[in-house]
Amino acid sequence: MNILDELRTRFEPALSEWTDDPSSVIEMLKASQDARFGDYQANFAMPLAARLDGIKPRDLAVQIAEKVDLSDFCEPLEIAGPGFINIKLKQDWLEGLTKQLVPDDRLGVSPARKPQKVVVDFSAPNVAKPMHVGHLRSSVIGDANYRVLQYLGHDVVGDNHIGDWGTQFGMIIFGYKHFLDEDAFQKNPVNELARLYRLVNQLSDYHVTQKAVPLRQTEIEELGAKLQTLETTANLTDKKIQKQLKKLKSDIGERKSELTSMQEKLTEFEQDEDLKSKAVAFPDIARQAREETARLHAGDADNLELWKQFLPECLDAIQTVYDRLDIHFDLTLGESFYQPMLADVVADLKQKGLAKESQGAICVFMEGFEAPFIVQKQDGAFTYATTDLATIKYRAEELQADRVLYVVDSRQSDHFQLLFATVKQWGFTNLELQHVSFGTILGKNKRPYKTRSGDTVGLESLLDESIQRAHAIVAENDDAKPDGPELNETERQQIAEAVGLGGIKYADLKHNRDSDYVFDWDKMLANRGDTATYMQYAYARVCGIFRKGNIDRSALRNEQAALCLTEESERALALQINRYSEILESVAIEARPNYLTNYLFELSNLFSTFYSNCHVLKAEEEQVKTSRLLLCDLTARVINHGLSLLGIRTCERM
Ligand code: ARG
Repeated sequence: MNILDELRTRFEPALSEWTDDPSSVIEMLKASQDARFGDYQANFAMPLAARLDGIKPRDLAVQIAEKVDLSDFCEPLEIAGPGFINIKLKQDWLEGLTKQLVPDDRLGVSPARKPQKVVVDFSAPNVAKPMHVGHLRSSVIGDANYRVLQYLGHDVVGDNHIGDWGTQFGMIIFGYKHFLDEDAFQKNPVNELARLYRLVNQLSDYHVTQKAVPLRQTEIEELGAKLQTLETTANLTDKKIQKQLKKLKSDIGERKSELTSMQEKLTEFEQDEDLKSKAVAFPDIARQAREETARLHAGDADNLELWKQFLPECLDAIQTVYDRLDIHFDLTLGESFYQPMLADVVADLKQKGLAKESQGAICVFMEGFEAPFIVQKQDGAFTYATTDLATIKYRAEELQADRVLYVVDSRQSDHFQLLFATVKQWGFTNLELQHVSFGTILGKNKRPYKTRSGDTVGLESLLDESIQRAHAIVAENDDAKPDGPELNETERQQIAEAVGLGGIKYADLKHNRDSDYVFDWDKMLANRGDTATYMQYAYARVCGIFRKGNIDRSALRNEQAALCLTEESERALALQINRYSEILESVAIEARPNYLTNYLFELSNLFSTFYSNCHVLKAEEEQVKTSRLLLCDLTARVINHGLSLLGIRTCERM
């Protein structure tokens, strides 16, 4: 049962006496942060009173409380401070509810009242290009949302909207035609394609840098001249002038250091004879690669043939990562899938008066947006935007979606705002669209984190490294056990996998997804604190209790009548267990798995408090022992299930 939902449903009609829109404040009824203020707390009397004339918030709180009858499951409401309404659940009611959870496989989580068809667009790397940690983050956050929505009874479609039609293909096609190492390609096509991609990238980058150097030099000279003029002519005691000088000097310094690193890059490149000669032979490589892309898009038979040959190899390579992470998709409809539909999309937008020509391109101008949405470029090419429009049409009409989640880097938020605004005008008004944006993973230097080789191979070695580090931790803990180690090597390895991969996923999930976070091995795999490891140990600890007491857990579940919540820490633990349902709902609404990680962390902490306050196996009476074992069992089940919804495995023994 969703207790929070029940409370809100009871309060909402009562509020209509003071506001036309109770739903706008109902979310101010929440679980309370501090048990002294009840189990739940409603804070809406304050903003409501502020909107009304001549009523004190506290008096309003009293009036609201009088209107709502919760006597069937709550203690009389208490009004505190300036107008907080404190809600405490009745002891016997909470006990009864907890008893019902014991035989309930769904752990009190009822399926959604209105199941929706939800498309989760996640992972979506640009294949043939190195998949980077940002795509890892999208994969992990997307997968967790997918699992939660599905558990809540929604019809979920996981769609990997891969970038399989972009300029990177022109680059590898060009590389293939000019620099292919046949043997390497026979042995490992993906590695060879990745090498070709890097090579072409490096060569075009070289030419870009080479052209940029003299420009940068001129810029520095100009700024220097400006500085000199200012220094000789202006009033140097003037604060404004001083500021200007400071700014100029720092600009010059910045440009100079950029110039130095550009020059270093060029020197390093030129030391490689082979690279150097290739650069000389292909001075216009960027344009040539673009032309290969254009030929592919125009349907050139050779390029299309190569594309068809490369694509499965690229897909195999990313599949390895998904398999290791236990991440699955229902569909992989990449950008290429929508190509045949793009011309119609543009025609339709034009016909509806939404898109028009501007400087040779076809654009949608949306009120409130500075930049237009370009759906066809001057050269006739369609864009990322056009593909996304076609994708939405497909998802609405063919997949019959009610809601689409886009789990994509926050740097694309402008794109999605424009996209969603356009789509509403275009006529898909019933479709709920949500950009599930996330921040950047940073290194310790606070710059975007890069795996050592910066590619899919690097991503895999990241997973390997995590498992290796986890192995060391698992072994150390095991060796330190009072009665000596308990695990054999196979078990250690299995646990290390769960801890290593779980650690990476959990670190991605526990942060508010909008913020950037620093990738830190030690924090990620720590035994204590808000980590997967901590929760995995908590789970294993409970399993250990059952082993030690020789308890048959399924037989135990027939004894639910024994359950009673006498101690404060028992009650707090039981309440938290009962909140599982409302937490999953909130994850589903906002697509924020960190609500679940917070919840599980809190649950593990409450369990620790309970376990240190209450004897379980050594409880004085048999009934108390059974009751506490039931609480242990429920805790373990919720931790295990909650982690599974995050894509994280547990182990019975660690
Ligand atoms: N391939 C894109 C990228 O790597 C992400 C695609 C996200 N999905 C979408 N429908 N635009 O940046």
